[in-house]
Amino acid sequence: MQKSDGYFITIEGIEGVGKSTNIATLTKFLEEKGVEYIVTREPGGTELAEKIRELLLEISEESITELSELLLVFAARAQHIEKLIKPALQSGKWVVCDRFTDATFAYQGGGRGLDQKIISALQSMVQDELRPDLTIILDLDPETGLERATKRGSLDRFEQEKIEFFARVRQSYLDIAAAEPQRCVVVDASKPLEAVKSDLLNMLEQKLGTALQETNEQ
Ligand code: TMP
Repeated sequence: MQKSDGYFITIEGIEGVGKSTNIATLTKFLEEKGVEYIVTREPGGTELAEKIRELLLEISEESITELSELLLVFAARAQHIEKLIKPALQSGKWVVCDRFTDATFAYQGGGRGLDQKIISALQSMVQDELRPDLTIILDLDPETGLERATKRGSLDRFEQEKIEFFARVRQSYLDIAAAEPQRCVVVDASKPLEAVKSDLLNMLEQKLGTALQETNEQ
């Protein structure tokens, strides 16, 4: 990435982990630092990608094969990257994205058991060199996460999966964090809200110092 480019932050975690609340904390932090940013999500973020999101989340009679699911996720991502993420980063804006390719490694790889090599190949094809600069993994046990997700209302196609599925997804996220400690930070989302918020803010101050300085110098 060029020095003038924005900074790319992704937020990950299983269902019910509190992504929205923590994204609100993150964007307030960026506002206070005077950073120009956009918030987006995956699957989704553009008109077409949001339509693909609907296909992925709806419960329909015809089941989606694991490979179709994987390709739909990357089709949405290809559109999202070219139409929204890259132009924003190239204009110097920071991008905050609710889920990205780590979700594919965790859900389609860990959860569904698809070969990581296929996911890596699609990642290279669709993203070229684009990778997040910082990934925040909110970590919570699946029992608590699903309980929270169930309280929010009707469950989508993923939320209807069994606890074992989410246990595998969680483990995949932790494996990614262990393999890439420079990029990934794990935040314990089982703590009370205020404690999670303060952990997140401390981490942001520590991790983003240099990037914020570079952005403000431009
Ligand atoms: P959410 O963004 O509201 O949490 O829901 C999106 C769902 O899509 C979530 O269950 C995870 C799933 N998903 C994948 O399975 N693979 C992916 O690559 C992405 C981005 C999301």
